[in-house]
Amino acid sequence: MTAQFLQLTYISTRHPQMADSEIERILAASRYNNPRNEITGFLLFNGRRFLQHIEGPTAKVEATFARIGLDPRHRALVVLGRKENQPRVFGRWAMAFEQVTPTAAARSETLVQQVERMVAGIDPHVANHFLGYARLTTQKAA
Ligand SMILES: Cc1cc2nc3c(=O)[nH]c(=O)nc-3n(C[C@H](O)[C@H](O)[C@H](O)COP(=O)(O)O)c2cc1C
Repeated sequence: MTAQFLQLTYISTRHPQMADSEIERILAASRYNNPRNEITGFLLFNGRRFLQHIEGPTAKVEATFARIGLDPRHRALVVLGRKENQPRVFGRWAMAFEQVTPTAAARSETLVQQVERMVAGIDPHVANHFLGYARLTTQKAA
C-alpha cells in the first residue's frame, strides 16, 4: 500500500561558501512553499550542519526533498529517518527554526554525538525525536 503521509529527517553539511544571510532565504522559501504543500517541519542549524524534519503528503514531501537535495547551499545529505503514515510531530510550524551555537567542532564525533550537540537545550520532546532517529540509524548501521 502506498503511504499517503511521509516524514523525513536528514542531516546535511553547509556549503563552505554559503553566506550566513542565506539562512533567512531558506526559511523564507520554506515558509512560503511549505504551507502550500501541507508540509510542516523543523530545521536546526549549528553553523556547520543542518538537521531537518519535513512531514506531509508523500508526493509533496518527496518533491520538496528532491528540491532540497539539489540545493547547492548544502551537501552530503544523509537521511536519518523515514516514517510513513504517522501523526505529525511539528503540526503547528511551516518550518520551525533553531540555531544552536557551534562548540568546537570535533570531527571525530559520532552521528549521535553530533545530533546531541545540535539539540542541546531545545524542547526535550523535539530533541528526543531527533535523537531517536540518530540512535536508530546508528543501530541499523552497526
Ligand atoms: C537546509 C535546507 C532546507 C530547506 N528546506 C526547505 C523547505 O522546507 N521547503 C522548501 O520549499 N524549500 C526548502 N529549502 C530550499 C530549497 O532547496 C529550494 O531552494 C526552494 O524550495 C526553492 O523554492 P522557490 O522555487 O520557491 O525559490 C531548503 C534548503 C536548504 C539548504
